[in-house]
Amino acid sequence: MGFLVKVVLVAALGAAAWYYFKGCCPKTIPKLDNNEWWGPKELVGKQDSSIKPFKVKFDEAMIKDLKLRLKNHRAFRPPLEGVGFEYGFNTAQIDSWISYWADKYNFSEREAFLNKFPHFKTNIQGLDIHFIRIKPEVPKDVEVLPLLMIHGWPGSVREFYEAIPLLTRQTAGYNFVFELIVPSIPGYGFSDPAVRPGLGMPQVAVIFRNLMNRLGHKKFYVQGGDWGAGIVSVMSTLFPEDILGHHSNMLFSQHTCSMVRTFVGAFFPSLIVEEHLASRMYPLSSFFAYVLEEFGYMHLQATKPDTIGVPLTDSPAGLLAYILEKFSTWTKKEYKFKPDGGLSNRFTKDQLIDNLMIYWSTNSITTSMRFYAENFSHKIMSLGLDQITTAVPTWGLQAKEELMYQPPNVLSTKFTNLIGTTVLDDGGHFLAFELPQVFAADVFKAVKAFKEWHQTNKKTEL
Ligand SMILES: *[C@@H]1O[C@H](CO)[C@@H](O)[C@H](O)[C@H]1NC(C)=O
Ligand SMILES: *[C@@H]1O[C@H](CO)[C@@H](O)[C@H](O)[C@H]1NC(C)=O
Repeated sequence: MGFLVKVVLVAALGAAAWYYFKGCCPKTIPKLDNNEWWGPKELVGKQDSSIKPFKVKFDEAMIKDLKLRLKNHRAFRPPLEGVGFEYGFNTAQIDSWISYWADKYNFSEREAFLNKFPHFKTNIQGLDIHFIRIKPEVPKDVEVLPLLMIHGWPGSVREFYEAIPLLTRQTAGYNFVFELIVPSIPGYGFSDPAVRPGLGMPQVAVIFRNLMNRLGHKKFYVQGGDWGAGIVSVMSTLFPEDILGHHSNMLFSQHTCSMVRTFVGAFFPSLIVEEHLASRMYPLSSFFAYVLEEFGYMHLQATKPDTIGVPLTDSPAGLLAYILEKFSTWTKKEYKFKPDGGLSNRFTKDQLIDNLMIYWSTNSITTSMRFYAENFSHKIMSLGLDQITTAVPTWGLQAKEELMYQPPNVLSTKFTNLIGTTVLDDGGHFLAFELPQVFAADVFKAVKAFKEWHQTNKKTEL
């Protein structure tokens, strides 16, 4: 009997070890086609690779049509008694937003505001890619470092407007500033969408690397949140030679070892996570309950983006409810119990409507949601990027209300040079937008640490 138990135990351990090492053994970096064409076929070979200035334009016809649609919506069913945002956007609140958008939002003033930074477009692999680029003017002894900064869904380049000035001017304690390149993801806002299936995160990583190369940057720093976080993580995985440092406000690893450690921590949390942070991860049942409750949008967008795209393209009130509900619950989980969704606690109406305007004026909600479908395609999953480690120096900025939390020992199985993490007791998913000072200060701190890491590493190589 005792012998049998031992045999079973050894077999089980052997299987676990085999699985563990299989998951942990280094995988080779896949080679993607750096020139894959995403635009119309008839434009192949006729590409114009110049960089053209671009201006945001809210034209009269669009504004007139938008106001008409906002004002002509049917009456919405009142919310249930005593309910905040638990059932989604509270319809007792929506009229104040609609009337603000139609009557108070100053389109010409906001258009000028959005144009306060220099915008450009350039064609890459058949798509006109939009980006903001700021080259700061600084004294000669101040270094200017290129930083690619990427937004997510349902955000846009607008998320960075408050942080941009903080990153492009001199800051006490640092002898560098950033040249910022802030692109729109293809299919989002002012960047063209692909015309055929297959443009997921790794393909966008290729496009944005080509963008940086075209702007004269062979090596650069990257920053991202939400999809931006995913894209910069993939860039660090695919192009470790080019990425000088990787800062993320949603750093996340799905490496098998990370999953094993997370699972072990469910039984022995003290092995995995500091005591005061354990409640950000465990019990796992709360995390899964949260995912079930809040991630329906992801399932929908990953499977039927074009169907949900129809009402959101046709109705600005629908677009508003769909997007702002995310700005409520992803900023703070408890906001869903508030009648107004806590939307005004951290954002102004103008800020949030600017972001809506980027989706509405470009008619890009459907193409933005298709990104979910592409990301979960078999073609992309089979690249196995989650299993490939990266030695790019990495830093995680971890907001209190971010959708998930992983401690350093879970992250470092994928990011083998995790230089540091900053754990915040405040802030949510749209961190640059919500707490620009905290965000910018952390980017400076992390990049200083990346530079020090490179210096030390250079020394040891000599
Ligand atoms: C919009 O803003 C512009 C510039 O600040 C101002 O001249 C104009 O009167 C404003 N329009 C409305 C309707 O408030
Ligand atoms: C994207 O898809 C990959 C698998 O292809 C998955 O591991 C990852 O969680 C997805 N990311 C997002 C943000 O949906």
